[in-house]
Amino acid sequence: MSSTKITARWAFNVSEWNPSDEQYQQILSFIQPEEKSRINRSYFIEDAKLSLIGRCLMRLLFCKLYKYDWNTIQFSRTERNKPILVTPKMKDSDPIINFNISHHGDWVVLVASENSLIGVDVMKVELPSNQTLEYFFETLKDRFSDYEWSTITNQNYTEFQQLHQFYQFWCLKESYVKAIGLGLSLDLRSIEFHLSNEESSLIENPQIIKSKTQLFINNELQPEWKFEESYLDDLHCVGITYNVLDHENIINSQNFDKFEIDEILKYAKKLN
Ligand SMILES: CC(C)(COP(=O)(O)OP(=O)(O)OC[C@H]1O[C@@H](n2cnc3c(N)ncnc32)[C@H](O)[C@@H]1OP(=O)(O)O)[C@@H](O)C(=O)NCCC(=O)NCCS
Repeated sequence: MSSTKITARWAFNVSEWNPSDEQYQQILSFIQPEEKSRINRSYFIEDAKLSLIGRCLMRLLFCKLYKYDWNTIQFSRTERNKPILVTPKMKDSDPIINFNISHHGDWVVLVASENSLIGVDVMKVELPSNQTLEYFFETLKDRFSDYEWSTITNQNYTEFQQLHQFYQFWCLKESYVKAIGLGLSLDLRSIEFHLSNEESSLIENPQIIKSKTQLFINNELQPEWKFEESYLDDLHCVGITYNVLDHENIINSQNFDKFEIDEILKYAKKLN
């Protein structure tokens, strides 16, 4: 059986990247024209920057790790919008490389794996402006099972800690949904996460990487699905979901590698 590997956990802090107009246009020329047009339609420049860096990280993955030429790489999207690699075509003997990106708040993250489905979600822990915690929770409660909701609203937690716990569960659900490539079509209440008593919580110890959380679907344990949960900084939590077919194959949890624009400039080539 081919072994499963996580080959990239990359993060880029976009709030620290303030390009000149000239550099922004240069970076836009490094991505496919249809993605450039999509990004140019963004209402907020912050959203455009997040998406743009995401596209560059996808290309960087295949250049830096798999030695492809920047301008021979072609991505497409599934009917549910998940980006996939279409060119160059893999040989049957090559490992199957999967990847996924997420962006929110200050960060863009990319994860990649060989011979495993993988999904990622990063969230900035904050309340939407002009919303109370009570109102925010009321509008999103229906995405979580009763068991999950009781964990999120633990009465020993302050409101801010409950918000952190909420986003940790959110990242778990989203990263699973993204690993299987689905979107809003799933009944999110039937996907239930159970935190393990064997490791401390990220609320008490945000420096750790949690890896023992379990997934139940319709009350049945799904042992092939594994998770990594951590924080990129005080306010951004991130969840990774991947599946292992071979249970002997233990993957060591790792922190995200942090990249800056120079890393992209080292490999990138103009496409348009
Ligand atoms: C697409 C979806 C899966 C993720 O979107 P999101 O959380 O807004 O955004 P993220 O930053 O995490 O991810 C966006 C990136 O994921 C990728 N992506 C898009 N559709 C995807 C899909 N169906 N599967 C996996 N990845 C996808 C893209 O690279 C996208 O980047 P881009 O917009 O720059 O192209 C989301 O729209 C969705 O349907 N979520 C599930 C439903 C839900 O309510 N979740 C709540 C969890 S409690």
